Amino acid sequence: MSKGSGPNRADFVVVANRLPVDLERLDDGTERWKHSPGGLVTALEPFLRARRGAWVGWPGVADVEVDPFTDDGLQLHPVPLSGAEFAEYYEGFSNATLWPLYHDVVVPPVFDRSWWNAYRQVNRRFAQAAAEVSAEGATVWVQDYQLQLVPAMLRELRPDLRIGFFLHIPFPPVELFMQLPWRTEIVRGLLGADLVGFHRPGGAQNFLWLARRLAGFEPSRGQVGVRSRPGVVQVGDRTVRVGAFPISIASAELDRLARTKEIQQRVRTLRAELGNPRKIMLGVDRLDYTKGIDVRLHAMHELLAEGHIKAEDVTMIQIATPSRERVEHYKQMREDIEREVGRINGEFGRVGHPAVHYLHTSVDRKDLVAFYCAADVMVVTPVRDGMNLVCKEYVACRYDLGGALVLSEFAGAAAELTSAFLVNPHNLDGVKDALLAALDIDEAEGRRRMRALRRQVLTHDVDRWARSFLEALGTPAAE
Ligand code: ADP
Ligand code: F6P
Repeated sequence: MSKGSGPNRADFVVVANRLPVDLERLDDGTERWKHSPGGLVTALEPFLRARRGAWVGWPGVADVEVDPFTDDGLQLHPVPLSGAEFAEYYEGFSNATLWPLYHDVVVPPVFDRSWWNAYRQVNRRFAQAAAEVSAEGATVWVQDYQLQLVPAMLRELRPDLRIGFFLHIPFPPVELFMQLPWRTEIVRGLLGADLVGFHRPGGAQNFLWLARRLAGFEPSRGQVGVRSRPGVVQVGDRTVRVGAFPISIASAELDRLARTKEIQQRVRTLRAELGNPRKIMLGVDRLDYTKGIDVRLHAMHELLAEGHIKAEDVTMIQIATPSRERVEHYKQMREDIEREVGRINGEFGRVGHPAVHYLHTSVDRKDLVAFYCAADVMVVTPVRDGMNLVCKEYVACRYDLGGALVLSEFAGAAAELTSAFLVNPHNLDGVKDALLAALDIDEAEGRRRMRALRRQVLTHDVDRWARSFLEALGTPAAE
């Protein structure tokens, strides 16, 4: 592979499984680009657009070849996947092996050798694409669990590059990681980076232990801090840093949007359409079994059944983006959730007034902000989540200091958002108590909590996250 030169090579390259836009094929045979789902794109897109870098990723549809193109100053380099690779690399190894393994084995991970082979093959393709796009000495920032082999593969192709890796999901306890038949290859893949970043110090600490146990490299011994005191692994003549960088959102932008007249009008319309209930509870998630959507529905059901709340007073809205729909556990979970929604509405709804409004769709940004502003209680109850950006978005939108946040202890964000009502999602009584407390919170106490939450979210935004990572990588972010 020759070193990068030429007009289209970039000095700053993000490599992620998905591009920030997904190709959508409509029923009439036409195609259009739409915003990609999930926290990774939410976090990285604003930063990368401002930097006018390049983004290497899959266009979201199998068996299509798309030429590189520029979107509003951002160079997009599509990496194709065949139908078989989509099934084995994306649905299989990424989302039926690694995803459950890294989320505390909430469902049993499947270990399949042909999926692993596809994962290696696709990671190599991403590494080659990144090598072709990067200018000499460029910084390449590889993202997430789908591409953990890319750092080492890319280093082999292009030793001149500075390579960072960030994991957007939790890094598991070592006892769970050790189940993976290809554990050593993954650790060696990540050690190809100059900096390996996690959300929480615990993930970094686990990885340092595995670097010694599985790859035989001696790590530093001190405790890793948040955005400080990274661990160090000496890999031959290279020094690999390992640190914790809690991700965030473009909070000022959401705060600004929430204050606009247009959003405030949408909030009034929304409340009126719901029949002006006394209280609105809201859940917003990808439809994923880690998000604990079932937990909040069970809690709602019991609160109604026991008479603690009345459906005419309290309405729940659950907005769930379709996600990984062909993966078995996702199909099963969708059926379970929709059955529970039907049961609650069957028992407690009235004509024109369901107790739970369930939308299986993605909503546009302005509508989402209006939902956040209308919600008296935001319910975020994952059984495990690397960070969770939804709770931060809610807080950023509540410039009025209204609303209350019920947040799982098992979301990475709980370490920062300590003024939320923190709950253990496995303890249904605890969740019910927290929901009741949040619904009945007195105004002064609610404002006190929200002020503290906002202080955290507005000062620790995504720009700060990216800057702290890139500074630790030795590539300070441009102004
Ligand atoms: P994950 O990365 O696992 O999907 P996060 O909470 O970190 O979870 O990020 C989810 C992102 O997707 C947030 O920016 C959120 O606003 C967005 N999102 C989730 N559900 C919806 C939805 N139904 N409609 C629009 N955006 C959504
Ligand atoms: O970090 C979680 C993650 O897998 C991200 O890579 C992505 O932002 C999001 O979830 C959406 O997942 P998918 O790309 O599988 O739809």
